[in-house]
Amino acid sequence: MPAHLIDGKAIGAVVRAEIKERAGTFVARTGITPCLVTVLVGEDPASRVYVRNKGKACTEAGMLSRQIDLPASHPENDLLALVAELNADPSVHGILVQLPLPDHIDESRVIEAIAPEKDVDGFHPVNAGRLLSGGPCFVPCTPLGIMKMLDHESVDLKGKHAVVVGRSNIVGKPVALLLLARHATVTICHSRTKDLPAVVRSADVVVAAVGKPEMIRGDWIAPGAVVIDVGINRLPDGRLVGDVAFEEAKETAGKITPVPGGVGPMTITMLLHNTLEAATRLAASV
Ligand code: GUN
Repeated sequence: MPAHLIDGKAIGAVVRAEIKERAGTFVARTGITPCLVTVLVGEDPASRVYVRNKGKACTEAGMLSRQIDLPASHPENDLLALVAELNADPSVHGILVQLPLPDHIDESRVIEAIAPEKDVDGFHPVNAGRLLSGGPCFVPCTPLGIMKMLDHESVDLKGKHAVVVGRSNIVGKPVALLLLARHATVTICHSRTKDLPAVVRSADVVVAAVGKPEMIRGDWIAPGAVVIDVGINRLPDGRLVGDVAFEEAKETAGKITPVPGGVGPMTITMLLHNTLEAATRLAASV
């Protein structure tokens, strides 16, 4: 029997409606409208679309968004000064500097300049460290979205073997920590993993986040496994595919996310969640 499709668009819409309602209650209670500022340096067309979509989603959820566009040649020091200004501005609750940045700008320096309490991406080392040690933090949006989807699908993680393919700071490492916190037994795999197909075959839950089109084949998937595909890869023929060979894997998996329409819509949804959370925490701290 083909797998049940995990519909990220539909789950995202439900979660966004909940966030919109909570945002409305927050505004009515405090008179404060949560505000996300996005910063785009340069002209990358994909980044431009992502940033526009983030701003649009914010507005649709009853929050404010401001987009600051800077030329690709913008000096690093000026960007750091802008971040410092946004950190100090009480009307700004979330700051998102779109990555990648041009080569002359040190990404870590910029990420570390953002006040951790406004770091709605969850990329600052303070947030990454607190995720590791279990303190209050902002969790990166894609991993948080994956957990939200698994919860919506009532996937029981306790004692299960979760195999994460990919070890990035943005997805692989944080999602492994979140799965571990939910009592899964977690294996993180990467390009040097010996006999990757065998490891993936032993998984109850697979999270694919490698950025290699259709690398994970159908015969790597155990019958009934839950497959979360984070990949978004454009093929030379224009097709958009994930890191999992979907048509093959759906014949074996129990549940699987499509690409597009799986993890993607959940990422922006969780950015809205983090922005409302930032405003709520900042309002409680004054
Ligand atoms: N570039 C691609 N994804 C992201 C993201 O989640 N946040 C930021 N800041 N940049 C990105």
